[in-house]
Amino acid sequence: MHVDLYERIWLWGAGAIIVLFLGAIAFATVSQGRLPPSHVETIDPRNTFGDERFATRGVTVNPDGSVAVTMIAMMFAFQPNEIRVPVNAPVTFRITSADVVHGFQIVGTNGNTMVVPGYVSQFTTTFDTPGEYLITCNEYCGLGHHNMFATLIVEEGA
Ligand code: CUA
Repeated sequence: MHVDLYERIWLWGAGAIIVLFLGAIAFATVSQGRLPPSHVETIDPRNTFGDERFATRGVTVNPDGSVAVTMIAMMFAFQPNEIRVPVNAPVTFRITSADVVHGFQIVGTNGNTMVVPGYVSQFTTTFDTPGEYLITCNEYCGLGHHNMFATLIVEEGA
């Protein structure tokens, strides 16, 4: 089959871009621990605060040293607004939204998820550097979007 020279160049160019993008995904997955959210758990978005899974919000330390963080995102705040977790311990975040789609990004770490009403977003990560981290909403959620943030403090084990 005859393929025109320019068409061949474009075909190979488009193919190379696809390989490059797939390579970027593989690189981010392997070297930076970035994974797609796979936790599918539903919740009634009209009763977020009344749901027993979110009745107690904040930080819980399990007997094995792992940590659970439960938060609710809403226009235009996270509840609770400040959380403290120990360094070098696996921290599982569980977040849901009380109204619209929000983002949950712990700046400078691989902690980043969408927060969708009706679903519980969950991911586990470990912080190896003590300090104060900004948690920001990275999905436009309304007029106060730019004011929607919280603070994560990673501290040396007590
Ligand atoms: Cu919440 Cu933007």
